[in-house]
Amino acid sequence: MRIHAMLALLALLSPLPAQDAPATTMKAVRIHAYGKADVLVYEDAPRPEPKPNEVLVKIHAAGINPVDWKIREGAFGKSKSFLPRILGGEIAGTIASCGADVQSFKPGDEVWALLSLTRMGGYAEFVCVPEKELARKPKSMDFVHAAGVPLAALTAWQALVDTAGLKEGQSVLIHAGAGGVGHFAIQIAKARGAKVYATASANHLEFLKRMGADVAIDYKAQKFEDVARDMDVVFDMIGGETQARSFACLKKGGFLVSIVQPPDAKKLEEFGVKGAIFLVKQDVEELDLLAKLLEAKQLVCEVSETVPLAEAQRAHELSETGHTQGKIVLQVVK
Ligand SMILES: NC(=O)c1ccc[n+]([C@@H]2O[C@H](COP(=O)([O-])OP(=O)(O)OC[C@H]3O[C@@H](n4cnc5c(N)ncnc54)[C@H](OP(=O)(O)O)[C@@H]3O)[C@@H](O)[C@H]2O)c1
Repeated sequence: MRIHAMLALLALLSPLPAQDAPATTMKAVRIHAYGKADVLVYEDAPRPEPKPNEVLVKIHAAGINPVDWKIREGAFGKSKSFLPRILGGEIAGTIASCGADVQSFKPGDEVWALLSLTRMGGYAEFVCVPEKELARKPKSMDFVHAAGVPLAALTAWQALVDTAGLKEGQSVLIHAGAGGVGHFAIQIAKARGAKVYATASANHLEFLKRMGADVAIDYKAQKFEDVARDMDVVFDMIGGETQARSFACLKKGGFLVSIVQPPDAKKLEEFGVKGAIFLVKQDVEELDLLAKLLEAKQLVCEVSETVPLAEAQRAHELSETGHTQGKIVLQVVK
């Protein structure tokens, strides 16, 4: 009896078996300094805990976007107060647990999100997301393809539809049509009934056509302004000389929307056109709308490279070439 009592007491005092102990760490890719791709470190990091209005998402895959490596290299400032930092603005995964006030989701639900660009957190096994920033991933899509959508496709939608007001029967010139944002922009413009001109280099022209471009322009071999004339809308993802030459492509009253550089006010006046630059914003209703287009196969996400989370450095180096096709996605769960 005494031995039994002692064993029972020991069992109470001993730590919980490993599988029952709540995990406090996770694998993540963090930066501890700003710089080249080698500042990305695959390591153990604290696992976040959801606040009452948040959901803990087990990330299956995370999309790579140029903004990630622009932040990494310090293009938006080099504040040490944000370090160490987990980059990554778009994710797809399943819900691991919910904060006490969460109403619309439950553990196991498949979700996706454009994470707040000030917080990010996608290059990791887990991230906490406020319930109102989370949406349901399209059922028919796998996690890798879904993860390439939220930031890039919302940008394309908000540029063409919300900002430039692209309508059926109009014409649009889409620069960088083969990239992450560009390939969604071509498909969204086609879905809205526009005539689509798009630019890329020679080895991506077939891809532009496959995405639905009516006219594919090799920007190295042809002057795009000789081919795309009287456009209602130009979507600029390049800036600089490309933007400067794009004003001549627009008809009077046309619209130049840029996501990289504010349109020159003098040029807008000179050509009698309108223009704007904008920053993508979170919008779960628009994510639901994109999900419908994806389910209806009116929109596809082309993933050209799937890279394991531990190899995020390689994914950044690829993205930084500026000449990839479609999306690069980090795979977190195999
Ligand atoms: N403001 C915002 O909210 C916002 C949101 C998303 C993205 N962005 C910015 O928008 C830009 C595009 O983003 P992304 O994700 O689409 O980038 P991405 O996927 O890296 O774009 C790569 C594509 O750009 C094409 N390209 C490069 N130079 C070109 C040129 N001179 N003319 C035509 N195409 C060219 C390449 O085609 P080839 O290989 O055939 O040359 C390649 O397919 C980035 O600078 C990004 O930071 C801004």
